[in-house]
Order: sequence, then C-alpha cells, then structure tokens
Amino acid sequence: MKFFADTAIVDDLKALDELGLLDGVTTNPTLIAKSGRDFKEVIAEICSLTEGPVSAEVAALDFSGMVAEGECLATLGSNVVVKLPLTLDGLKACRYFSGKAVKTNVTLCFSANQALLAAKAGATYISPFVGRLDDINTDGMELIREIRVIYDNYEFGTEILAASIRSANHVKEAALAGADIATIPPAVIKGLANHVLTAKGLEQFTKDWQATGQSIL
Ligand code: E4P
Repeated sequence: MKFFADTAIVDDLKALDELGLLDGVTTNPTLIAKSGRDFKEVIAEICSLTEGPVSAEVAALDFSGMVAEGECLATLGSNVVVKLPLTLDGLKACRYFSGKAVKTNVTLCFSANQALLAAKAGATYISPFVGRLDDINTDGMELIREIRVIYDNYEFGTEILAASIRSANHVKEAALAGADIATIPPAVIKGLANHVLTAKGLEQFTKDWQATGQSIL
C-alpha cells in the first residue's frame, strides 16, 4: 500500500521523504488554510519536492469553473492531480480531465454508489473518507471493503485512496481491506513505527550492552 501524506506543511513532507515514506501528497482547502501559505505557491513547491502525485483541490462548484481552475492547477507541476468534489459537476469535470489524460482525485466520497460513479467517470483516484464516517457512528472501513469488491468485479482501474485516516489502526484496517493507498497525517505515519515492547526491549538491550564494556567500532 502506498502512503500519501495528508498535509501542506513542507517541512513535514521533507522529513517523510527522507524516511522513504512519501509516495505522494494530498491537500484540501482546510489543509491549505492551516499551512498559511499561498495555494499555488505551496503546491508548486510540493511538486518540486516529490515525484509522487500531488492532489490540489478546485474551489469552484460548477463544471466550467472546475475545468478552468483544474487547468490552472495542472500547470503547477507535471505530478499535479486535480482534486474534484463528488458532485454531478465534479464527475463531469472528472470525465473532461480524464479525456485529456490529466489525473484526477474525486474527493468527499461517502458511499459505494458514489465510488462507482467516479470510476465510470474515469477517476484516477477515489477518496472515501473513513474517519468522517466513523464520526457519525458508521463503519468507515466497510466502505473501503465495498468499493474494493465493486472495483474488482468490473476491473475498474481507479485506485482506492483511503482518506480521513486518523489512527494507526485505520492504516492497518485500510491495508487489510485492500486500499491501494492511504492518505495519512504525518504524525500518524511516524507513529506506525512505535511499539511499547520495541521501546522496552531496546532499553534492556542498551543497558546490557553497556554492562559488557565493549564497543563495536
Ligand atoms: C483527503 O483527501 C482529505 O484531505 C482528508 O483525508 C480529510 O481528513 P479529515 O476528515 O481528517 O479532515
């Protein structure tokens, strides 16, 4: 499973890249606002930092506005993915961009039928929001499992990008459910390396090694 980082904070992206844990990036208007940066400037900077796909979301709500904004965003880097909302206008814009070989990420997906429509529109990625479904007392991960079955039934090429991932357990469950990618906050990605028994074991090994009085170099 690929890891995309769900952030527009460049320093966090650089740190993940150095760890070899950055396969791509997703942003949304909220994350851009949190970064405090100019939208187009920060997307261009992120595109130069990674060769992986970088999702940049349109703000327009109508088809022609989405097309105009998406075409502008696509000039910011060869790895820009135009992120479009799962509305009828968004799906129409998805079909338009897919016809022009521009990559798309259809976002704000909360049902298997919405994911089916995105695949039929030629979406490169579908973003089902796991955490936000959990927030309303629904099993968000069940949506990933349903989409996996539907896409496999019809051999759709659209990749499942598990989004709104909030915890290490979400990451594991998304991998088990067959998501192609998870987009994850950087702190959650780094936290995947943690285990209390790893820390405890390392502490004991270090103590015992020091007691030998030896050194390797
Ligand atoms: C996905 O593309 C979104 O940017 C993101 O995963 C939303 O996560 P949230 O529900 O934690 O805001």
